[in-house]
Amino acid sequence: MIKYDNQRKSFILTGKDFTYALYVNRAGFLQNLYYGAKIADNDVGYLIGHIGNTVSPDPDSINMDMLFDGMPSECGFYGRGDYREPTVLYTRSDGSAMSRFRYLSYRIYCGVPEIKDMPHSRRGGQTLEITLKDDFSPVELVLNYTVWDNLNTLVRNIRIKNTGSETLKINRAFSFCTKLPERNYRIMRLHGNWAKEREVEVTHLGHGITRLQTLRGVSSHQLHPFMGILAENCDEETGECYGVQLVYSGNYALTAEISNNGFLRLQGGINDFNFNWHLVSGEYFETPQAVICYSDEGIGGLSRSFSDFLREQIIAPDKVYARRPIVVNNWEATYFDFDNQKLFNIIGEAAALGIDTFVLDDGWFGKRDGDNSGLGDWYANQNKLKGGLKAVIDRCKHNGLKFGLWFEPEMISEDSDLFRAHPDWAVCKTGTKPARGRNQLVLDMTRSEIVDYIFNAVSKILLENDISYVKWDFNRTLTEFYSQKLPADRQGEFAHRFILGTYKLAERLTTAFPGVFFEGCAGGGGRFDAGVLYYFPQIWTSDDTDGYERTKIQWGTSICYPVSAMSCHVSVCPNHQTQRVTPFNTRGVIASLGATGYEIDLSKISEQEKEQVVKQIADYKKIDELVLKGDLYRLSNPFDDNYFCVMIVGKDKMSAYVAGERFRGDPADRNRILKLNGLAEDKTYIIEELGITASGKALCCAGILFPRLPDYGAWTWHIKAVK
Ligand code: DGJ
Repeated sequence: MIKYDNQRKSFILTGKDFTYALYVNRAGFLQNLYYGAKIADNDVGYLIGHIGNTVSPDPDSINMDMLFDGMPSECGFYGRGDYREPTVLYTRSDGSAMSRFRYLSYRIYCGVPEIKDMPHSRRGGQTLEITLKDDFSPVELVLNYTVWDNLNTLVRNIRIKNTGSETLKINRAFSFCTKLPERNYRIMRLHGNWAKEREVEVTHLGHGITRLQTLRGVSSHQLHPFMGILAENCDEETGECYGVQLVYSGNYALTAEISNNGFLRLQGGINDFNFNWHLVSGEYFETPQAVICYSDEGIGGLSRSFSDFLREQIIAPDKVYARRPIVVNNWEATYFDFDNQKLFNIIGEAAALGIDTFVLDDGWFGKRDGDNSGLGDWYANQNKLKGGLKAVIDRCKHNGLKFGLWFEPEMISEDSDLFRAHPDWAVCKTGTKPARGRNQLVLDMTRSEIVDYIFNAVSKILLENDISYVKWDFNRTLTEFYSQKLPADRQGEFAHRFILGTYKLAERLTTAFPGVFFEGCAGGGGRFDAGVLYYFPQIWTSDDTDGYERTKIQWGTSICYPVSAMSCHVSVCPNHQTQRVTPFNTRGVIASLGATGYEIDLSKISEQEKEQVVKQIADYKKIDELVLKGDLYRLSNPFDDNYFCVMIVGKDKMSAYVAGERFRGDPADRNRILKLNGLAEDKTYIIEELGITASGKALCCAGILFPRLPDYGAWTWHIKAVK
């Protein structure tokens, strides 16, 4: 709900459990007033006049330097006495860049802002639109704030409008700026690498600017477009914290700036490094949405709120809660080295074991026998696949399986027909050798004719074949950041235009083929973000499927995302990435905590393992509703404990699923208690595997003993409410 108090010129935004308040001060600056736990009567007006409100009605009449540094601005400006980093920065034709944004008008309406060409929240809610105007030039900023009564997230973005006659050069266009209460905070970041995505790191947040960013052109394996700000006493389930994530998949930056007076300014959006955008007269520039969240139930509360938001607002409504196909993918089973028979062997076994869909991974097209050729040639390799895709699809159908196919749409190999026909389509600075990654180049997605070509090529395959699933990969990062078609003074637009091209392609393909289920992927989890989730309901979490490493990767990923967004597969041992051997059961348990599947040659596993596959699938079908719709509670942290354990609780509190793993034998574990969480205190539950019946309160407060299992042993408990 959003309320405007005309007398105080204040806006009070209330979500499920939080209040966000702002007001226009005497000099016309939009200031933050409060962001935290819900205040039932919405009365925080008494704070007006106490927080950073020393600004005189005439801001030019006094020495402003220190005053603006202490103002909790909702949009930072530049060159007029606020020495923190601005939210928006642009230069005019005379080279001047100073700005000062003051309140012009507001509008409150039901629904979400209309955002073209980029992923965004979809429906419901209420939006506050505040227009600010630059004191020194004909520029208006439209600040959007959307809240929902049933969600704990606040969605923000900024639209920059050029209302004058000259062209502006935007140098920074962040999506939001906010001030958090003064406090001794810690910062949580998710960092990583290929096969080691989203490791959790928490450190003290010191003075100055802490900046999380990527310059890789994609949200990246290395540093996630997320920032958590934790109060001193915040832990997994208690205490206050804030989080922000971006609905964006390209170069981003998130900054936390603590200034001399202790104020924390949080802002971010498109990375401004080597970014610029020509904003011609009469046009506007739209920034991506930022999702901000407050929790007073610790990091776990933050994660559950983000998950609810993503399921309700970002992931496609017709897919988000629909049963996910259980797939077998041939990548680790065959890599590029396959023929009809090898695939038929997997397909035959898959059908017998209860799998829904066979996904044919990389290597089926062009002259693709290794990673140095074929990308861009989206037609079947008839030498490898006798009878083409049709033969494989017919075999799937004959066995009652659906068929899925791998693409890497934004890429091109130099050894490909596409490159021979259009060498200038690859991202490359004329006259230089392009940088290669995984022996491949990137298509210039800023060019509409290239987006059209890929759309037509992929569509042709999808139209001519019975394909129900597409895995959309992206195996290298961007370099050069240069388009042969953009004018010299607009090359700073490349990185953002590239991701807009990707979004355009994803929008067109998902709209044209609503019956196809799309899965995102980027060399594992290198483009796992809310922007991608808007188009693809689930994303391959990591190329690392090791039964131990995956506990950490999935734990870190679950900080921001619902478990249903994570594709999690059982693969062979010794694991191809770590060489570790973990029990088949353990790999199945960890893979059950997401959209499950197999990445293994089913024709080569033992009879015992086949029996386990049948059981794992049957067990998964008992809990897949919880995976799709439930709330996640993280119980034991694999980054600092000998156990990994999480539980998913149904929203109605009638059932729950616990899954855990013990890493190493440790005699000190003997009497360790595991406290459950999320159950209704006054309900009685039975833990089926243990035959224990107890109240939710007892299970959450007194807990139960951790199981003592051999190294890397895993367990599951199914919990049902009995009264
Ligand atoms: C990276 C993906 O993460 C793998 O699953 C596989 O699809 C390969 N790319 C294929 O090149």
